[in-house]
Parts: sequence; C-alpha cells; structure tokens
Amino acid sequence: MPNMRSKTKLLKIVILGDSGVGKTSLMERYVNQRFSQQYKATIGADFLSKDIELEDRMANLQIWDTAGQERYQSLGSAFYRGSDACVLVYDVTDLRSFESLETWREEFLAYAANRDPETFPLVVLGNKIDIVDRAKAVPTKRAQQWCAAKGGVPHFETSAAEDINVEAAFQLVATLALKRG
Ligand code: GTP
Ligand code: MG
Repeated sequence: MPNMRSKTKLLKIVILGDSGVGKTSLMERYVNQRFSQQYKATIGADFLSKDIELEDRMANLQIWDTAGQERYQSLGSAFYRGSDACVLVYDVTDLRSFESLETWREEFLAYAANRDPETFPLVVLGNKIDIVDRAKAVPTKRAQQWCAAKGGVPHFETSAAEDINVEAAFQLVATLALKRG
C-alpha cells in the first residue's frame, strides 16, 4: 500500500457486559454489517478481525466477544492481557445490566490494565436504543454521570439492530486504543 507510514498495528479490543445486552450483535454489525433477531448465547470467547485505516496508518482490530452468562465465563487474566481497549455494554431497557458495569469495569482493569488503570481506554455503550415501545430503564443522564465519575469515559447510545452509532463508537475505541499503544 502506498505511503503507509509503518506496518499494520494490531489492536486488541475486548467487549464485556451482561448476557443479552447485544455484545455479539454489535460486533457482527460493525464487522459484517449483519444483524439477527435470534439470540444465541456466546460460549467462552471468540474474535472477529477488521482492518481499518486509522490516522494515516492501517490497523487490524481484533475484537473479542465474550460470554455474559456466568456459567460460560472462565476467561481469566491470560485472556485480558494485552488488551488495548475495552467496550462495556449495557442494555438501555435493562437497569441491572447498567448496574453491572461497575463489576465488569473492575474485573477488566484488575486483569488487563497493569499500568495506569485510570487512563485505560474504556468506552460505554447503551445498546438497543431502537426499542421505543418500552420505557427506557436507564436515563441517558444517569449513564453519562457514571461515565463522568469514572474519569470521563466516552458514552454512546447504540443500536445494533438499526445501525445507530455503531461505527462511531468502534471508531473512537480504535482511536483511543491506538493512542495508548
Ligand atoms: P451473550 O452472548 O449471552 O453474552 O449475549 P450478547 O450480549 O452477545 O447478546 P446478543 O448480541 O446475542 O443479543 C441478544 C439479543 O438481543 C438478540 O436476540 C439480539 O437480536 C437482540 N439485540 C441485540 N442488539 C439489539 C439492538 O440494538 N436492538 C434490538 N432491538 N435488539 C437487539
Ligand atoms: Mg454473545
């Protein structure tokens, strides 16, 4: 490729959050432009890879999708090690999934961020914003306040179903990951 400053940069991004919030759906939407209504629980962890151009260079995003269901969780520190950024997902119609973010964040930082946990690149996504016929369980303001209290973590409301903010969110995640790495 012409005029590329240096070799492709590999960036490892981990998606965490409760079961059913839409982690797999967000990744499928971002990487493959696909969406399925059908729920199939992720078992263990798996990744999809996507090449993007980022600030004048090529980056290979390795996006790791994990299981939200506790009985499938056995990831441990080896899995998180080497992460360059983390995406924390909740479901805007499910308050509990928002309240779980604290635990997901702590678990991730404890394992992955051996240097400067306060500045580790995290992005929070409130997914399923397309569902308007149910009362929104997590007010935008409440999520924003939590993110601000965690040192100014960026927050997006997304829809994997209707492709709202998915590209923008992952673009920012990748940019933050690249800056750190
Ligand atoms: P685990 O693998 O168990 O951790 O779940 P997950 O977080 O990967 O959730 P998944 O992506 O499998 O989505 C769960 C269900 O929510 C599926 O039926 C999806 O079709 C649905 N879903 C995901 N994202 C959206 C969204 O943005 N809007 C709507 N309406 N439904 C969504
Ligand atoms: Mg999944």
